[in-house]
Amino acid sequence: MNSAPKDFLDIASFSKEDLTSFLDNTMQMKEIFTRSVKKVPTLRGRTVLMLFYENSTRTSTSFEIAAKRLSADVTNFDVPRSSVQKGESVKDTIDTLEAMRCDYVVVRHPMPGFAKNLAGLTNMSVINAGDGQHAHPTQALLDAHTIREVHPELEKKKVLIIGDVLHSRVARSTSRILDKLGAEVAFLGPGSLVPKHSKFSRFTNYEEAIAWKPDVVYLLRVQMERQTAPFFPSTAEYHNLYGITRERLAYLSDHGIYLMHPGPFNRGVEICDEAVDYERSLINKQVENGVAARMSVLYALKPQTSSFIIE
Ligand code: CP
Repeated sequence: MNSAPKDFLDIASFSKEDLTSFLDNTMQMKEIFTRSVKKVPTLRGRTVLMLFYENSTRTSTSFEIAAKRLSADVTNFDVPRSSVQKGESVKDTIDTLEAMRCDYVVVRHPMPGFAKNLAGLTNMSVINAGDGQHAHPTQALLDAHTIREVHPELEKKKVLIIGDVLHSRVARSTSRILDKLGAEVAFLGPGSLVPKHSKFSRFTNYEEAIAWKPDVVYLLRVQMERQTAPFFPSTAEYHNLYGITRERLAYLSDHGIYLMHPGPFNRGVEICDEAVDYERSLINKQVENGVAARMSVLYALKPQTSSFIIE
């Protein structure tokens, strides 16, 4: 990277070289986990603010752990109990928090573009932890890192993303990073949930998609909460047509195909119980790598807040 970026908002803003640098740093950060004291002083004296307008387990917890492993202080802004509920504007809220000398804000919000708007309002570094259906760039980073651990050369590796692509910020960000890094991506799902116009191959039939010979199958969560109309007849039918059933799992196992899912997963819909514990499931690796990838992002950014300018 030529100069340290202030914000981490989407994958599109970064070159292949930038993304490779984030991934190389992710690998370095993972080494810290093997130490008896899993902590380095890099961000001592800095404050990371967690601003989650939507629920999260993995992203919020892993950001908090990542910040603490870099010795930053972490404050969780409790949106439902805050003055946001009294109608305080986003600008006034963020000015208030910056005045308390926070340096980074990790934000998740249901509105696409929210993180970008916020970045224009503050000197704090803004990290997008998911904005509606638009982007989830740290998920993309941890996904790419997880695939690199089993396929160090990503060039021409084939990743089949299955499910609700239409509503998925994960699909948008992860397909983009894999494409930038030279991997091949294809989508599979019901016609109603897979975009017709994208640069990637599109399948609506499982057997045709598997004949494309993917190296990794990446399952998406069926996002009932974002579907304003029924997109398929029933979850049982979805499971039969697109889910990883025991029979399909046996095929993946026979052909050495890895399995990923960003979580949380719907058992019996996109994934059967046995697939969660499959020997080539990378789901727990994704979670583990989420901490390292988020450490890499916090490490690389340069806030414009006074505590950094004084340096
Ligand atoms: N993958 C992901 O974003 O999970 P959470 O919603 O639990 O953060």
